[in-house]
Amino acid sequence: MDSDLHSKIELLIVDDEADFRDQAVLYFRRVGFSVEQAEDGEEALNILRQRTFDVVVLDIHMSGLSGVTVLKEIVKNETPPKVIMLTGGGTIRHAVDAMKLGAYDFLTKPAKLDELGRSIFRASQTRLLEKENRQLKEVLKRSEPDHQMVGASPQMQEVFRLIERTANSTQPVLIQGESGTGKELVARAIHRLGPLADKPLVVVNCAALAESLLESELFGHEKGAFTGAVAAKPGLFEIADGGTLFVDEFGEMSSGLQVKLLRVLQDGTLRRVGSVTEQKVDVRVIAATNRDLEHEVAEKRFREDLFYRINVLGIQLPPLRQREGDIPELVRRFANSDWKISDGVMECLIAYSWPGNVRQLQNAIERAKVLAEEDQIELKNLPPVIQSIPIIQTTEMLSASPAVSAGRIDLETLNRLHVEETFLACDRNKTRTARALGINRRSLYRLLEKFEID
Ligand SMILES: Nc1ncnc2c1ncn2[C@@H]1O[C@H](COP(=O)(O)OP(=O)(O)OP(=O)(O)O)[C@@H](O)[C@H]1O
Ligand SMILES: [Mg+2]
Repeated sequence: MDSDLHSKIELLIVDDEADFRDQAVLYFRRVGFSVEQAEDGEEALNILRQRTFDVVVLDIHMSGLSGVTVLKEIVKNETPPKVIMLTGGGTIRHAVDAMKLGAYDFLTKPAKLDELGRSIFRASQTRLLEKENRQLKEVLKRSEPDHQMVGASPQMQEVFRLIERTANSTQPVLIQGESGTGKELVARAIHRLGPLADKPLVVVNCAALAESLLESELFGHEKGAFTGAVAAKPGLFEIADGGTLFVDEFGEMSSGLQVKLLRVLQDGTLRRVGSVTEQKVDVRVIAATNRDLEHEVAEKRFREDLFYRINVLGIQLPPLRQREGDIPELVRRFANSDWKISDGVMECLIAYSWPGNVRQLQNAIERAKVLAEEDQIELKNLPPVIQSIPIIQTTEMLSASPAVSAGRIDLETLNRLHVEETFLACDRNKTRTARALGINRRSLYRLLEKFEID
């Protein structure tokens, strides 16, 4: 048996038969457990008051306190050790009673030590799992106030369900959704709820770096690999080894890097830039993109094999305009309890199409809090483009537009008009437009391109 794995198992053996105790202590120490012993129930309870154990092996028939009495005491503990009962012949009924009281298992005497060992091992595994579950719940609880995502809509409830399911695994995850829909928040939630939560979450943004820089950032480089590489440097994959790498703006990765990334995902091997040797890493990859990668694959701009490899677990974040039911709760979150929302403001916020999604909504509320007098957010504190949507501009602007036929407003057109209008209002200054829309410059470029605005 692998003694490294077992060295953590803390075992207490309670039996009034000295021979059995001695044999068992010797055997399980040799296996690698840390073992204590007690010759009767009284002594056992004393030891248990002083320190914790993973597993207790407990003889049911002892002079003084019976095994069942000791068991009853043990299970009063908040996180009791697993108890394996040893029963003499003809006491199966007692064993069944013990199981009902919360014993983990029972073996009849004389117990074979290897058999007992297997039961102890299973018991300790169960205990470990329970402990992990408790820790997870604890982490969840503690992260509630500032990190918890808002979303009562069925779409977001589905997203939350997926986050939980995804978090249990260490397979790659692909998070897709428009800019500002909460992809980074989801990535962090998956990390926080998963088995690697206590390991590092290393973040890299593929849009922020030029290709060659990104390559050495991700995979590291050897000394002299390129001009300026004065010393060898480990890449982020090496730094994240054993933990998680969050690859943001994943869709922006060049085809050369896509190949290298595929190798890491497939067999965990990578080569530093300028190195001839391969090395192994064990990293969970969470990727996010606001591109539609399936479309990118169809257009041959993204490798199909990498797409399938990364999309083992996929989460699609719905745009805010498709879950307007979440808006009031988000507004209350961003405005917090210090701010009152005056009539009409909420309707206005719900009616608006939010091309910059939750981030844009958050920016709008932050801005309103600055502009508001007293503690009340008024219609006039909202960005003009949002204020006017349901009332004047849309009808005026859209009446001239083919998108409105028989009173139906096409959201795509509404979006285009909104972006166009903001762009013009900002004198075609892209930085200012992006800020006004609450999106980043890259997303703005995409929108301008998509809507053929220049
Ligand atoms: N469901 C939500 N509940 C509360 N806050 C949210 C939610 N979704 C997004 N946010 C907030 O909106 C902002 C944008 O979220 P995030 O950065 O995760 O979006 P993103 O999809 O990564 O955007 P981008 O594609 O532009 O990088 C953040 O401030 C985040 O806290
Ligand atoms: Mg992001």
